[in-house]
Amino acid sequence: MRKHQFNGEFARRVEPEFKTFMDKAEKIRWSPKHIAFDKIDYSKLTMADLFAVFVTLHIENYSDVYTKLLLKHYEDLPVMHGFLKNWEREEENHARTLEQYLIAVGMPLDELRANYAKVDKDDFPFPSENQTGLNVFVFFQELLTREMYTKMLKSCREPVLVDILKRVVRDEERHYRFYKYTLGLRFELDKKDTLAQFRKIVRIFGMPQTMFRQKAMTDKLMEYFPYAVDEIMGIAKPIMKLLEAGPSKLLERFQNLQNVWINRRAFSYLLQSPYFWGHVGITLKTRAGLKAVSKKDAEYVQSVIDRLYGLLQKRLGEVAVHDRLAAVGAGAGDGLVAHGAKAVREGLHDGARRVHA
Ligand SMILES: [Fe+2]
Ligand SMILES: [Fe+2]
Repeated sequence: MRKHQFNGEFARRVEPEFKTFMDKAEKIRWSPKHIAFDKIDYSKLTMADLFAVFVTLHIENYSDVYTKLLLKHYEDLPVMHGFLKNWEREEENHARTLEQYLIAVGMPLDELRANYAKVDKDDFPFPSENQTGLNVFVFFQELLTREMYTKMLKSCREPVLVDILKRVVRDEERHYRFYKYTLGLRFELDKKDTLAQFRKIVRIFGMPQTMFRQKAMTDKLMEYFPYAVDEIMGIAKPIMKLLEAGPSKLLERFQNLQNVWINRRAFSYLLQSPYFWGHVGITLKTRAGLKAVSKKDAEYVQSVIDRLYGLLQKRLGEVAVHDRLAAVGAGAGDGLVAHGAKAVREGLHDGARRVHA
């Protein structure tokens, strides 16, 4: 594990940012008990929503393993320990809330736990032994998680899930901003090494393997939520900003060439990223109406979709029965109220008659 010489200076400068981060974290702290799971409107819930909840729950669910490894690698930086402990708490909160949502839809907790158990928590590929490399990795990770949830939020019409997604997006945005801040600082303190780490990480980056048949599942998720090229470029923008170089004097009169020159590093890294190309591939296949999921894994993905579809249909059936009963009940209630009102009216009338008599 390489510890950086600038860590003393780094810790001193991160401290105020961390304090601001924690003040906000305490102020907006939330948990499943703030969510009205009994108000889910099943008629507005789509299969894309439900599948996305299932997939993101499984991704969130392994933050404990990840945190343990990160804590070990930032042993000499107590400020990062403080951040990571709160980070795990918030990611764990996301997992438990999404889990609660699926339970509300009708999935037994035991069934979910059997799913979690399909992934070996000890077999976890760790992306880097370098503190800056890890910073680059988690920076990408939080940026992409924020993007995923934002995409889900934009298309979701079910109010309880919208409430959850808004809270989660806000958290992921804060995580992303903190890692962006620390990465910016690393750039300032050791530009050469930070660029070298960037180069290494873009070549291996992928979301951690936290789910059974992860690739097929996330590919399917991308099929449900296809990205346009300009959306991908939008996600890449903050990364390009971090990596941009100064303008060239020679290219002063050629704005387009100047832009390419300034962003040459970012473009070159982007083109080296298998993760980027993977998503471009899925998006193109989806748009062309081709299957993006390999045959081998398609069965498993389909079994998950069938299961979720079954649960949703069952809930919709129950809601329909409940609504019919409520309609009948409300009719009877109206009758009682009318009867009571008539009695009161007659009573008053009788009383008035007696007074006047
Ligand atoms: Fe999260
Ligand atoms: Fe996060």
